[in-house]
Amino acid sequence: MKKSILITGGAGFIGSHVVRLFVNKYPDYRIINLDCLTYAGNLENLKDIEDKDNYVFSKVDINEEKLLEMVFNDYQVTDVIHLAAESHVDRSISDPLAFVKTNVMGTVNLLNTARKYWKDLENHLFYHVSTDEVYGSLDDGGYFTETTPYDPQSPYSASKASSDHFVRAYANTYGMKTIISNCSNNYGPNQFPEKLIPLCIHNIKEKKSLPVYGKGENVRDWLYVEDHARAIDVVFHKGIQGETYNIGGFNEWKNISIVRLLCEIMDKKLGREAGESAKLITFVKDRAGHDLRYAIDAQKINRELGWAPSLTFEVGIEKTVDWYLDNDTWLQGVTSGDYQHYYKVHYS
Ligand code: NAD
Ligand code: DAU
Repeated sequence: MKKSILITGGAGFIGSHVVRLFVNKYPDYRIINLDCLTYAGNLENLKDIEDKDNYVFSKVDINEEKLLEMVFNDYQVTDVIHLAAESHVDRSISDPLAFVKTNVMGTVNLLNTARKYWKDLENHLFYHVSTDEVYGSLDDGGYFTETTPYDPQSPYSASKASSDHFVRAYANTYGMKTIISNCSNNYGPNQFPEKLIPLCIHNIKEKKSLPVYGKGENVRDWLYVEDHARAIDVVFHKGIQGETYNIGGFNEWKNISIVRLLCEIMDKKLGREAGESAKLITFVKDRAGHDLRYAIDAQKINRELGWAPSLTFEVGIEKTVDWYLDNDTWLQGVTSGDYQHYYKVHYS
């Protein structure tokens, strides 16, 4: 094996696309998907690659020190791509500690294990996959660049900012080779329907109301998940140690416009009358501390590493809707059980 890469959170939305890309593209790497399978982790996402020779799954919580050490030893881990996290802002508002435990303490535990196991830190990479939310909210225009000061506003973004700081501290203090990338909002297949786009697709299908927070004026920059996975591949292989790379779609949308677009696309696909699904739009109480606008300046990764999004939003969103309509069993599976309880408590 040329490399033995530990990908944490590989059963989640973005992680599963990263794992698939690496397993298929690099048969001479061993890919270890380490995930404790929270509500957001789903091995169904990886059915097509689970029998590949260069793929292994390990059900471990990143807070479990001893088990992490065993994994590093058993698979002689050479590099880490760290995606495991609690990822949903609304959940961070109702339970901040869960985010501290996984995103902060779990990340530090993983850093400690890597540091302990890797005797020659120079030859190993710890790559942390982070978010543009660490930069705060762009209420006065402009873009987030790699030098924008951190200003996290939600418990989720505070936990991710903290984990970024720990990663940099391990580079500075112990000489660990690290890279961080901060990406904008992802969309695409396998996203858990607590997030805006899959939640709306699911609700339009079921003719349930579409909850838009506040006036729907908040702006997000959307990127197709496979383009994010391609960016992670490029950063892992070509990124410079100690650097940060912003990743974004150059694709800003107001929430209400996205929801209207989904209604239009799905009316056509489901053979409904034009305007039928838009009647489901319901303006609800705003998210507490709701960041107004995120927008990434992704020129550095474009200029230095040659990455750019490959799909237009029009193509990506069609593909996404088609995937959810074609994968009803997946959607039913993740929206039964706990999801019902979450939905009732959060949206009541
Ligand atoms: P997700 O919630 O879909 O998946 C997270 C995965 O991590 C799940 O498989 C879950 O089981 C696993 N996990 C959670 N806690 C764990 C623990 N303690 N130990 C082991 N595994 C654990 O998240 P996502 O949307 O795929 O995001 C992945 C990463 O990318 C996160 O770090 C997130 O902050 C970051 N990110 C997400 C987006 C986005 O738009 N979704 C954008 C930028 C960055
Ligand atoms: O910017 C990157 C971040 O994008 C990631 O780091 C996070 O892990 C990911 O969850 C995402 O955060 P957001 O809060 O932007 O995503 P979410 O899909 O939850 O919400 C998108 C926008 O839609 C946001 O302005 C809130 C709004 N919204 C969301 C939901 C779930 C609604 O109006 N109604 C809803 O029901």
